[in-house]
Amino acid sequence: MLKTKFCKIALENPLFLAAGVLGSNASSLNWALESGAGGVVTKSFSKNPNEGYKNPTTVAVEGGIINAIGLSNPGVEVFKEELKRINSSKENGIFASIYGSTPLEFSEIAGEIEEFVDAIELNISCPHAMCGYGSSIGENPDLTYEFVKAVKDNVSIPVIAKLTPNVTDITKIAIASEKAGADGVTLINSLGPGMKIDISTAKPILSNKFGGMSGPAIKPIAIKSVFDVYKSVEIPIMGVGGISNYLDVVEFLYAGASVVQIGTSIMDHGLEIFSRISKDLENFMKDNDLNSIDEIVGLVHKGGFQ
Ligand SMILES: Cc1cc2nc3c(=O)[nH]c(=O)nc-3n(C[C@H](O)[C@H](O)[C@H](O)COP(=O)(O)O)c2cc1C
Repeated sequence: MLKTKFCKIALENPLFLAAGVLGSNASSLNWALESGAGGVVTKSFSKNPNEGYKNPTTVAVEGGIINAIGLSNPGVEVFKEELKRINSSKENGIFASIYGSTPLEFSEIAGEIEEFVDAIELNISCPHAMCGYGSSIGENPDLTYEFVKAVKDNVSIPVIAKLTPNVTDITKIAIASEKAGADGVTLINSLGPGMKIDISTAKPILSNKFGGMSGPAIKPIAIKSVFDVYKSVEIPIMGVGGISNYLDVVEFLYAGASVVQIGTSIMDHGLEIFSRISKDLENFMKDNDLNSIDEIVGLVHKGGFQ
């Protein structure tokens, strides 16, 4: 009942692990798949190794967390070996998240790993400084077009652009992605940046001072982004931001997401969240006479239940 497709990739269910939460090696990606994820997105990696920021890199706030990990990763040569060790016996989507500083760098990384994954997600939307060029790409439609096109020209597997909510009109960025040939878009990367100050020391808590917000507090912004983008482009949407239960998933599907990703709430609920949401989603569909995920996608745009 939950089986679906995203960019023609067959999936057991529409629930993905979001980039950056676990997903930095083969064993954690395999663990997510064994726990019932329909797909996984790796932690974002770059051409060269990147140490990221010093601790503390995450802090809990009302409604979620703020993180400034700084996209730490061992670089594509090492990450490629991890990708080779991912076991996907079921119908799963294995998506690699990559980032870089130039269109050429993105396209070279993509070319190196395309044979090991089903799709590539372009992180052009990271909101913290060490990768400041990340969101500065995704805030500009022309740059977005240029970066997406460079990758599309170099690989034959689906390319998904992951967009930032930190813009005046996200539909312009989604349209630029589609024009450049993107096969899908992921909405949204973390929001902000935001900041938390320690009351006793009167200093910012994060070593980077500020970071991206994620978790339940950002869900309404993610839902509105999906709602708007669904009306503006033909390519499918991966919805992400604040999902912690099946009702959140249903809301994203209603707004127009074809599949969803789950990040921050895995820190609170563990990877069992995938099997729990799958079971609850299936019961919801039975109770509402819904036979497929496709029937739910974009329902709000079709006037809701009649
Ligand atoms: C600790 C942490 C690390 C993240 N790292 C990445 C990353 O490497 N690449 C990326 O595209 N997004 C990254 N994100 C953003 C998530 O993939 C997701 O877009 C965002 O957190 C909203 O979803 P959530 O509320 O379910 O966490 C990270 C988020 C968190 C909390």
